[in-house]
Amino acid sequence: EVLFRETRDLSGHTVLISAGPTLEPVDPVRFLGNRSSGRMGYAIAERARQRGARVILVSGPVALAAPQGVERVSVRTAIEMQEAITSRLPDCDAVIMAAAVADFRPREAAVHKLKKLEGEETRVIELVRNPDILADLGASRRGARPVLVGFAVETENLVAAARTKLETKKVDLVVANHASVAFEGDDNEATLVTRDDEESTGRVSKHALADRILDRVHALLER
Ligand code: CTP
Ligand code: CA
Repeated sequence: EVLFRETRDLSGHTVLISAGPTLEPVDPVRFLGNRSSGRMGYAIAERARQRGARVILVSGPVALAAPQGVERVSVRTAIEMQEAITSRLPDCDAVIMAAAVADFRPREAAVHKLKKLEGEETRVIELVRNPDILADLGASRRGARPVLVGFAVETENLVAAARTKLETKKVDLVVANHASVAFEGDDNEATLVTRDDEESTGRVSKHALADRILDRVHALLER
């Protein structure tokens, strides 16, 4: 049992957090999506609210209740998520992209349920790139606001990949975790990668990791 500090250090700040997967329609009953429960993003939203922030939670489809006091905006696709975020950006002091955004979407969603054809053994679905929401935020940012945080779930070369994402997306912090721990159970283990350093958290609960991330966000907001 972890006892969380009673602190209101984020009061006066608006933090937007994205969470969950995006689901990209193939037809009315099928989609292409990412494996994401949304729990990490929801844990960040819950702790940010408890620490006094105004919290906007832009969420893909997940089986979680909105944490108390959080403004949840439900979206389904990457394009909807981008629109939900960019339209609220002027209010935001920090944006934390914990969502597992689909990199591609089917070029077009069929209007009617697709049927398999007799003898059809393979099927090709053409995909087109989705916008990179975080990279677009980084590219259009002027100055140090909003503070931008990304995630990198990888199966190899964890820290190097996170550092590349930090630089190419022009963000302040990348939370890197290994795919083998990111998806299981209540615990997580991450490396916090910034321009100046990298810090390994060790194995911690998702709420404790949320606090570590928010400590960094708080420090970046104070700069
Ligand atoms: N991200 C985003 N928009 C996308 C894809 C990713 O905003 N279309 C964000 C994610 O929310 C995450 C960060 O970018 O915070 C890194 O996502 P990740 O999938 O690890 O990186 P990609 O840039 O998509 O690279 P790749 O999947 O090829 O490793
Ligand atoms: Ca990706």
